Amino acid sequence: MTTELAGEAPLAKVKSRLKRALGPWGVFFEGFLKNPVMVGSIVPSSRFTINRVLSAVDWDNTKLFVEYGPGVGTFCQPVLDRLRRDGTLLVIDLNPDFIEYLSHTITDSRFVAVHGSAADVEEIIRAHGHEKADYIISGLPFSTLPPGVGPAIASATYRVLRKGGAFLVYQFTPRAGDFMAQFFKRIDKGLEWINVPPCFLFWGWKDED
Ligand SMILES: C[S@@+](CC[C@H](N)C(=O)[O-])C[C@H]1O[C@@H](n2cnc3c(N)ncnc32)[C@H](O)[C@@H]1O
Repeated sequence: MTTELAGEAPLAKVKSRLKRALGPWGVFFEGFLKNPVMVGSIVPSSRFTINRVLSAVDWDNTKLFVEYGPGVGTFCQPVLDRLRRDGTLLVIDLNPDFIEYLSHTITDSRFVAVHGSAADVEEIIRAHGHEKADYIISGLPFSTLPPGVGPAIASATYRVLRKGGAFLVYQFTPRAGDFMAQFFKRIDKGLEWINVPPCFLFWGWKDED
């Protein structure tokens, strides 16, 4: 046994083995334990939620797809699988551990992971050479965001979307719909039961004038 291993506390050993065995679920759960309010969920979204939310996207006309709060990347590979070869998936998360994890595990050249807040989406996409986003998906816990942050994110999202694009939101409470309604005139709604817990779905469309 090496000195390093011999020196490792038994609890820390169990924790790191468990994290390795659980893979992305372990990283996500650890992120939740460190900051439950910011992460807002214990379990990543189900594939039923992923397929349903993404079914509204016009992939042929999507060059920039943005994701807020990717966590450990539950939506990232499904988005990359559908995205055109010259498209970009830019993800923004406040948790540096998740961004570091994603940067190591997703090696696709169309993928860009940014540590920051969704409220700064306009500056962030501009810094990466884009003026407008075609679609933006959000897994943010809107109901637990600090006061004012939800409306600020919904407003910046509306400005940065191209006409005909959409804001795709999945949430455990219907509250995100209230923030969205201040900016998006047309919002399609749904409920996905096969998810832990079941979640509300919103597709806010930026209509052509
Ligand atoms: C419920 S998790 C979403 C997990 C993942 N997208 C999924 O489908 O399983 C919420 C994520 O939002 C991130 N987050 C919270 N506030 C944020 C903000 N203002 N800007 C960007 N990310 C934020 C958290 O760090 C966390 O990764």
